[in-house]
This record gives sequence, structure tokens and C-alpha cells, in this order.
Amino acid sequence: MGKGKRVGIVGAGNVGSTVAFILAMNGSCHEIILRDNKIDIAKGKALDMSQAAAAARSHTIVSVAEEPEQLKDCDVVVVTAGSPRLPGMSRDDLLLKNAQITREVVRDIKTYSPNAIIIMVSNPLDAMTYVALRESGFERNRILGMAGILDSSRMAYFIQEKLGYGTGQIRASVMGGHGDDMVPLPRYSTVAGVPLNDLLTDEEIDEIVERTKHGGAEIVSYLKTGSAYYAPAKSTTIMVEAILKDTKQIYPCAVYLDGEYGYSDVVSGVPVSIGANGAEDIINVSLNACERKMFKKSVESVRKLIDTLNENNFFEDCK
Ligand code: 2OP
Repeated sequence: MGKGKRVGIVGAGNVGSTVAFILAMNGSCHEIILRDNKIDIAKGKALDMSQAAAAARSHTIVSVAEEPEQLKDCDVVVVTAGSPRLPGMSRDDLLLKNAQITREVVRDIKTYSPNAIIIMVSNPLDAMTYVALRESGFERNRILGMAGILDSSRMAYFIQEKLGYGTGQIRASVMGGHGDDMVPLPRYSTVAGVPLNDLLTDEEIDEIVERTKHGGAEIVSYLKTGSAYYAPAKSTTIMVEAILKDTKQIYPCAVYLDGEYGYSDVVSGVPVSIGANGAEDIINVSLNACERKMFKKSVESVRKLIDTLNENNFFEDCK
């Protein structure tokens, strides 16, 4: 008997477990396997979700991989594992620590789920997507980072809040890395097809752009001890489902650039057609001079993180 679709989730914290919950409620796959260092917590969550799935009459089973080899033969693996920034830790320390965690996780995926498509969620997102690509040696279409859908959703919400109407009809567009230098694109944002510039003043649009860039930090300022997870998780499940259902729909995702937009050997957020093979096509959006300048700054921020990894000889072990 063939196996049904199987999704692995490494890191069963707030984002990982919410991804699992949404997929289980949607019945998006046959099986979800959680993997986390805190095995009992993961087991409790898996049991709770399996019972929720029974209530929802969903066919999805949620289980826990206690050993790396139990996370096997997955079609998609979502990686949310990573350390938060601890007291006394610099950004570079955090970068190196999470790069090391990503390396270990990706080595296991490569061994036990060699055909999987990997969706990176751990921060710093673009750099971790780059690490996953280098460590796995997979073709670049099989490694995607989740951030553009999240950042665009935040922008869409801020547009709706400013307008007071348009819920569910807003298509906001954000490109670039998942950081303060991300590139919200009002020119490519619409409400029921109406360009944003016809609905809001330049000043209002600037406010939305600034708020979008700091959308994650705004939520941290309320939660205090953690970061957002509902929107990050929903954004991740959109990518998982696009792969499982082979939708070939376009979403902004972090992918390795190989000449697109004039950049190579770096990861950035660009519109991508997602299907069964992952990032099947990278869409070249025409940018004006100002947008190109912002995109360049964003790419350079990610490049600096990759340079730091190189200066620390991080990639010397990659085969
Ligand atoms: C966010 O933007 C922390 O990347 C996460 O909410």
C-alpha cells in the first residue's frame, strides 16, 4: 500500500504546533510528524491535536518522532527550530547558533527524507534558507523560506485598518528579505483590483510601509516573551498546501537567486510559483529605480549575514 502525504515539522513551539494544527484541521495530509527536543511536550501536543482531528472528522494523524530516523519519507518538512536571542548573545552569536541547529536538522532530513521539500521558518530567515540549501545540496527549487506571505499579509491588514474596508479583497505585495530592509511594494498592491494610490495618500501609504517593516517587532512588543505565531503559521501552511496540491500559484517566498534580479549566491524574497516540485518558477517583476535600490539594500543585508558565516568558516564542512 502506498503512503499518503506526510509532513514533518521540526520544532513544535508556537509556530510549529500551530502549523500542525492548521494542517490537521484542514485534513491537508495523511500524517504530520512533530520533532522537538522537548519530547513530552511534543507528545502532549500531538495527542491533543489528534483528538481535535477526531472532533473535526479529519483523517490526519499527528505523531511524534522521538528519534531522527522516525521523521522519514516526508514530502514536505517545515523547520521552525531555532534558539531565541538570549541575554548576552550578539546577533552574530544567534546567527551562528541557529545556523548550527539548521545544519543538524537538515542533515537528518537529507538522510531520512531525501525527497522532501524543505520550508524554512527559523530566523534569520533568509540566511537560514541559504544554510539549508548549502547543507542539503538539494536543487534550489526544493528549499523555500517562509516570510513574504507573512509580510504581505501584515501589509494587507494595515491597509484594511487604514481604509476601514476591503477585508479579504486586499492583495499586498512585499519582496526582499525578512528584516527591517524588506521591500513593501504599494505599486503592486490593490484592493479589489483598485490600485492603492487611488485610495490612500502618499503619507498614509508611507505609514503602512513603515509599520509593515516592523510588523513582527510590533507583536513582540505586546507578547513580551515571544514572537508572532498565528500569521507565521498560516503563511507556512499556505506554502505546504500549495506543494501538496501542486497548485502552481504565485506567492512571495525566500529562494536562492541565481541571476534573477541581478543577484546570485544569495537568498531573497521574490514571487514564486509553488507546486509539487517546490519553487517551480521565479517571477521577474519589473521594479522602478527606487524599488530596485530598496531591493539592493535588502539583499545586501542578507549578504552580510552570509559573509559572517563565511568569516566563521561555517560552510567548510558542507559537502
Ligand atoms: C515575525 O516576523 C518573528 O519572523 C517572525 O513575526
